[in-house]
Amino acid sequence: MKTETTIDLKQVEDFWNNNLCGKQFVDAKFPSKEFYKYYRDFRYKKTHHLDIYIDWKSATNKDVLEIGLGIGADATRWAEFAKSYTGVDLTAEAVYATKLHFEHLSLKGNILQGNAEALDLPDANFDIVYSHGVLHHTTNTQQTFHEINRVLKPNGQFIVMLYAKGSFNYWIRIQLYFRLRLLFEILKNKLGDSSKGNWALHIHNFKKDGWSYLSWKNFPHHCTDGPDCYIANIYYQSEIKDMLEKAGFKVEKMKKGHFPIGGKYPKLERFFAKYIGFHQLVWAKKQ
Ligand SMILES: C[S@@+](CC[C@H](N)C(=O)[O-])C[C@H]1O[C@@H](n2cnc3c(N)ncnc32)[C@H](O)[C@@H]1O
Repeated sequence: MKTETTIDLKQVEDFWNNNLCGKQFVDAKFPSKEFYKYYRDFRYKKTHHLDIYIDWKSATNKDVLEIGLGIGADATRWAEFAKSYTGVDLTAEAVYATKLHFEHLSLKGNILQGNAEALDLPDANFDIVYSHGVLHHTTNTQQTFHEINRVLKPNGQFIVMLYAKGSFNYWIRIQLYFRLRLLFEILKNKLGDSSKGNWALHIHNFKKDGWSYLSWKNFPHHCTDGPDCYIANIYYQSEIKDMLEKAGFKVEKMKKGHFPIGGKYPKLERFFAKYIGFHQLVWAKKQ
C-alpha cells in the first residue's frame, strides 16, 4: 500500500508537474494573458474568503516569501504591495506559470524552484511567509514549519492554510459519500460496467493497491486534489497548533473558509465555512 510514509518528494513533484493547480478550471489557452485573467476571476470568486481574510496590503514595506505557487494568483496579490516578493515551488511547471503571470502583469518577483522542507534561503530574511494549500501535500509538514521559522525575521508572521478535519468535506463528502460511491463503482465494475472520470481513476488505483486504498487513513489523500494525489493530509486545529508551537510559533488567529454551495450566496458560504469549512487558515508569529 502507498501511504504518506512510502511516498517520496519526487512523486509529489511529478504529480504537481502533471497537475498544475487550478489549470483545469479555466477554459482559455494556457499561458495566455486571457487565461491568467480568467483564473484570477475564478479563484477570487470561488475562494471569496481570501480577499476578505487575507490582508494583502499588510505586505507594504515588507519582504514576503510564498511557498507553493500553483498558477501564481496569490503571488500577484502579494507582489502588488510587498517591498520584495519571493516565491518557491517544488515544480518547474508552477515556477514557469508564475513567472509568466508576473510578466503579464509587469510585476517584480524572485520565483524559484525549491523544497519547503529544505529551503535554500538565508536565516531571518522575511517579514511574512504565506503558504496556501501546500504544506499538507509534502512528505514532512513539521519540518517545513521549522524551515519557515528559520527564514522568518524575529516576530515575523506565518500565514498558512491546511485542510481541516473538522469539516463537512472530510466527514460527510469524503469519508461517507465518496467511500460509499466507490464501493458502488467497484460493484458496478465487477458486474461488467465501467466507471467514468475520476471514478475510473479511483477504480484503477483500487485495482493496483487493493482494499487498503479504501482504508480510513489512506482514502482521504485521494479525495481532495484528484485520485492520483498520494499526499493530502487533513488536520484537526489542535494538531496544527501543536506542530506550529513545536516549531517555535505562537498561534494568533485561526479561521475556517471554503464551503462551496454554488457561489450565489458567498456570505452564507462564509457563515457555514466558519464552522465546517475545509480550509483552515492560521496566523502565527515567530517567537
Ligand atoms: C494545491 S497546489 C496550491 C498552489 C497555490 N498555493 C494555490 O492555492 O492555488 C500545491 C502546490 O504546492 C507545491 N508543493 C508541494 N510540496 C511542496 C514542497 N515540499 N515545497 C514546495 N512546494 C511544494 C506543488 O508543487 C503545488 O504547486
